[in-house]
Amino acid sequence: MLHPVILAGGTGSRLWPLSRQLNPKQFLALIEPKRSMLQATLGRLDGLDVSDPTIICNEEHRFLAAEQMRQACCSDARIILEPVGRNTAPAIALAALEATALGQDPILLVLAADHLISDTAAFQRQVQLALPLAKSGRLITFGIVPNCAETGYGYIHRGESLAEGAYTVSRFVEKPDQATAERYVSSGDYLWNSGMFMFRASRFLEELGAFRSDILQACKEAMNATTRDLDFVRVDAAAFQACPEDSVDYAVMEKTSDAVVVPLDAGWSDIGSWSSLWSVSERDAEGNALAGDVIAVDTADTLVRADHRLVATLGVSGLIVVETKDAVLVADKDRVQDVKKVVEQLKNGA
Ligand code: GDD
Ligand code: MG
Repeated sequence: MLHPVILAGGTGSRLWPLSRQLNPKQFLALIEPKRSMLQATLGRLDGLDVSDPTIICNEEHRFLAAEQMRQACCSDARIILEPVGRNTAPAIALAALEATALGQDPILLVLAADHLISDTAAFQRQVQLALPLAKSGRLITFGIVPNCAETGYGYIHRGESLAEGAYTVSRFVEKPDQATAERYVSSGDYLWNSGMFMFRASRFLEELGAFRSDILQACKEAMNATTRDLDFVRVDAAAFQACPEDSVDYAVMEKTSDAVVVPLDAGWSDIGSWSSLWSVSERDAEGNALAGDVIAVDTADTLVRADHRLVATLGVSGLIVVETKDAVLVADKDRVQDVKKVVEQLKNGA
């Protein structure tokens, strides 16, 4: 039986002003009107042979996470609470340690809480295909055929065919620079790392111990002194604060020689920014994605989201306009990666 581990500790700052510190994007109904991205991630598992999931998120989102689990009929989910974010390698380590604490050693299916997958059946087929390889000790990543030289992703150089639909990884390069990403995409030999993984809990811990024993040690200490109430597992704050920060991609996937890539063609997108949300949204004939009370005259290729007031646009194109109760964003669609600069200014009290 697969054990789902859902990473829900990101801040989603590029989706400000909708995504906020107290209500980040994975908890928002950004794509579907009634389900958050976290709930859609759980829904994608329906029909697979899976155990109750483990969610890992920040302490300050505990009630949000618990309430959304309850609504998604996952009341028995375990929720591991981090006092601070230390990125994905420690987060997965906590889940793997929790999963092995009772002498069990399940196969973990690690999912990000903020991805969109439009073809659930195709996703589930690839998960089934990867299962025997994960059981045999391999570390699986799901790979996406790239359609642009995106520098915010990891790139996987596909090696030889290992089993039907699965390949060895001859190289894993996390977030290359622009020129390198362009070279990779035009070679046709690389896939994007989707950020979804599958491995036996003990294999992950072994590899983490081999490459980042400092992270493994700190996570063990943090799990040695947990406090538990309801479904919450609170790790030891001081021990976890002392844990070095690193992503699973740098800490393990770039280094392990046991990685396997299973290509995934399931309408995957990482909803990281307003332009990625625009590109997966339904658009009118002028290329506008409009939500809420909006009047768009002579407007093209623009996303407008009005939550509280009427918003009108006239004679503009390539814009992002997001209206919320207390903040409005108007941005050039090509500058959306820089929305995090606005958030930084806000944090600095500007
Ligand atoms: N619990 C927890 N704690 N979750 C975290 C933390 C943390 O400290 N940091 C990030 N996450 C969660 C995020 O909420 C998200 O669901 C997932 O882990 C991935 O983190 P991101 O911060 O979104 O990673 P990324 O987009 O920069 O890169 C990863 O995903 C890409 C695809 O979307 C990498 O795996 C890349 O290689 C990959 O291409
Ligand atoms: Mg991401």
